Amino acid sequence: MSTDIPDVSGISIGILGGTGDQGKGLARRFALAGHTVLIGSRSAERAQEAAASIGGPVRGADNSTVAAEADVVIVAIPWEGHRSTLESLRTELTGKIVVDCVNPLGFDKQGAFALQVEEGSAAQQAAEVLPGSRVVAAFHHVSAVLLLDPEVAEIDLDVLVLGDDREATDTVQALAGRIPGVRGVYGGRLRNAHQIEGLTANLISINRRYKAHAGLRVTDV
Ligand SMILES: NC(=O)c1ccc[n+]([C@@H]2O[C@H](COP(=O)([O-])OP(=O)(O)OC[C@H]3O[C@@H](n4cnc5c(N)ncnc54)[C@H](OP(=O)(O)O)[C@@H]3O)[C@@H](O)[C@H]2O)c1
Repeated sequence: MSTDIPDVSGISIGILGGTGDQGKGLARRFALAGHTVLIGSRSAERAQEAAASIGGPVRGADNSTVAAEADVVIVAIPWEGHRSTLESLRTELTGKIVVDCVNPLGFDKQGAFALQVEEGSAAQQAAEVLPGSRVVAAFHHVSAVLLLDPEVAEIDLDVLVLGDDREATDTVQALAGRIPGVRGVYGGRLRNAHQIEGLTANLISINRRYKAHAGLRVTDV
């Protein structure tokens, strides 16, 4: 794989819905890597509590402040709140790299399954709602449990990074690589995000069968 990785060490990272496991887990790992991290929430107080629980260079604020202040913004909210949250932050997110890790999934007696999304995928919905932002899809398959576990020093995982803006996908690949053990691998254009989001349902099935926190590795790159 190309070693031409941009220097992202000075980038600040905001996380919408950062009070959940996925957001807190990513916040923890990026803070450990030396990034300034801003946890966002619908409630500034909840965000500040979550930030305090992580410690280090992590601050909490409402989603709108985080969207306005951070260099790169990760969307870590449930699918149900995806469209409305992004619509409300369109101005703050203009010009920014917005990283969508949202998996539109349903759950029934047979387990997890991919939902049909009108725009094709959550990431494509984000791009449609945020025409002035640089939307990238990534971090769909990382386990929040592993991100949060202090016993886990390295996470054995390739993060597939999708998008239509090469500089933005390069930046997010480099950010993924800031988590020990993780590699960011370009995974195609945004129009192919549906499979990546849906594949999470398969990983959840694998996790249930094998009592694991399964991840993916891409060979020969
Ligand atoms: N958990 C994982 O292992 C994992 C892995 C990969 C990807 N993901 C994706 O990451 C996203 C977050 O996962 P999670 O497990 O952290 O979810 P979560 O705990 O259910 O939600 C995260 C945060 O989103 C906010 N939120 C909840 N409902 C909302 C709504 N309707 N509108 C706006 N904000 C809302 C809440 O924060 P406030 O109440 O503080 O605003 C909540 O703490 C999901 O889309 C998931 O598919 C998760």
